[in-house]
Amino acid sequence: MSAVLSTPAPAARADNAAVPGDQEFSFGAADFERVRQLIYQRAGISLHAGKQAMVYSRLSRRLRETGHRTFASYLQWLEHPNGAAGDQEWQEFVNCLTTNLTSFFREEHHFHELARELKARGTRPLRIWCNAASTGEEPYSIAMTVAEAGAQSCTSILASDIDTKVLATATRGVYAAEARGLTPQRLRAHFLRGKGANAGFIRVKPELARMIDFRTHNLMDLNWSLGDAFDIVFCRNVMIYFDATTQRRVLERIHRVMKPGGLLYVGHSENFSEARELFRLRGKTIYERA
Ligand SMILES: C[S@@+](CC[C@H](N)C(=O)[O-])C[C@H]1O[C@@H](n2cnc3c(N)ncnc32)[C@H](O)[C@@H]1O
Repeated sequence: MSAVLSTPAPAARADNAAVPGDQEFSFGAADFERVRQLIYQRAGISLHAGKQAMVYSRLSRRLRETGHRTFASYLQWLEHPNGAAGDQEWQEFVNCLTTNLTSFFREEHHFHELARELKARGTRPLRIWCNAASTGEEPYSIAMTVAEAGAQSCTSILASDIDTKVLATATRGVYAAEARGLTPQRLRAHFLRGKGANAGFIRVKPELARMIDFRTHNLMDLNWSLGDAFDIVFCRNVMIYFDATTQRRVLERIHRVMKPGGLLYVGHSENFSEARELFRLRGKTIYERA
């Protein structure tokens, strides 16, 4: 790699950070309640009462950067009907409150299943959507699986997230060389190793990066214009942040953008057996669109 690489994927943020003893900013129960309502309305994320310290630690940076001395004043500015804070600050607010933990080949059995599926399909065109893609390790794992199956030419991959900051990292494709989940063979086949100032970093090879179309997408949006219907959707470890009503709404929308018989891959602790008229369980955390 020649150019100096930008920052690699950020380490996962701790959700259980302790409330500092002497707080820099005043943050009361009413402020927390308002934040909970706003992030629920914007992103569908349900923050339970135990997340107060997390909210304080993540949003304090926004107060510092925008010059507000209390949460009440920041939130009032954010919500002001004249839109003084602007869309950019709303995006920062959302970016601060998402949790982006991910890794390469996380829940590896899905990638074995995907490889089997690709083999079974032969050269039939395949459209994959990886939503809640975070910093990119998941869609790149999909792309590696597709490349290893020799199915690049007949497969298209869309990767999306609500969080613009993690998507920028995903698009850059630069990670710490000791990133979890990559075998030495995959490191050699799909990544470039940084040298000199870039030592300690790896970058996704251009041919792998080219397989993925990254874009911002909020699962709460009413209008999903994502192009042709998908054969496979990865929606992993995001529904856990949503309440049952929101999960149902999102499942209905995912159902609408998938082909009949398409496969939905979900996270290890996510169970949608209540929605069997939409999706039937087909394997371990894999559902088939009804
Ligand atoms: C814990 S990460 C999961 C990453 C990856 N899917 C995995 O399983 O490793 C959850 C991701 O969901 C995204 N997210 C949260 N709310 C969302 C929404 N309303 N629309 C789209 N993405 C959302 C977050 O930004 C975050 O990157």
